[in-house]
This record gives sequence, structure tokens and C-alpha cells, in this order.
Amino acid sequence: MSENPTPQLSAAARAEIDRWVAKYPADRKSSAVMAALSVVQEENGGWISREYMDAIAAYLEMPPIAVYEVATFYSMYELEPVGRHKICLCTNISCMLCGSESLQSHLEQRLGIRMGETTPDGRFTLKEVECLGACAHAPVAQLGHDYHEKLTPERLDEILDGLE
Ligand code: FES
Repeated sequence: MSENPTPQLSAAARAEIDRWVAKYPADRKSSAVMAALSVVQEENGGWISREYMDAIAAYLEMPPIAVYEVATFYSMYELEPVGRHKICLCTNISCMLCGSESLQSHLEQRLGIRMGETTPDGRFTLKEVECLGACAHAPVAQLGHDYHEKLTPERLDEILDGLE
């Protein structure tokens, strides 16, 4: 018996992936790979194991390497476990000019971790990201599915205090 059996995609994940597959020509199932990665990540604690990537490859009838390529290219996919709350702080030019460095120091100090790390209690992961596409409202961070714009350290504290 294999030590790491390929996990099965859940019925709910397969149904959601099928909904995306239906948007593309029948011989282009692999076009749904980004959606499939998001669905599986959402359902499995915010990250995607190699085994789940293999399951996606099998389901979409594409080579596993093609799934790995997509998953490693885009920063929204996590290939290691993350905290319950992932804070993606943009440090690109507009955000940097508008104070992302002080937000970063504030977060690192408050959470006791550096960029790229997860708190020991598994509550928070702090991640540096490139432009989130909301430069006019810099500085910006993404928590879960929500964007928080024109951030200040005080506003960040309010947001974090409001989390369970
Ligand atoms: S530079 Fe931060 S959102 Fe564009």
C-alpha cells in the first residue's frame, strides 16, 4: 500500500470543477485548472498538497507537471500549510510609496513572525505579494477574499482585532 495515496476530490469539488469545465470546449478540460486549484485549496484548509495536484491532473486529464506549473506560478496558490487567516500584504511600488513598509513592520511586530511565516498557533500567515491591482487605493492587503485599502497600522489593528 502506498504511504501517500492520492486523495479523492470531494463530490462538491468535482461538481464545482465540472461547472467550470462546462464553460470550455469538450477537448479543453485543462482550461479549468486554475478554478480547480482554487476549489481544492478552499476546501482543504487554504493549501494544495502535491497529492491533490495529482488528483486535479487526473480529473482534468492533463499531465501533473502542467498543474504544478500553474500552481507554482501564481502567488494565490499555497503549496504548504498556511494559517487560518492569510494576510497578503502588497509591497509593490504604489503600496511601498504609501507606507507598506510600516505596515509590514507593524504586522511582524504584532504577530511575532516575519514575512512568509505562520504564527505558531496557526492563526496567521503573513505573505508578501506583488501588485494586487488596487494601486489607486494603496497601501493594500488582502485577507481571505477581502481587500483592505488605504491601510494604516491602526486600521490593520482594528481588522485583526475583529477576527475570531
Ligand atoms: S502596488 Fe499595491 S496594489 Fe498595486
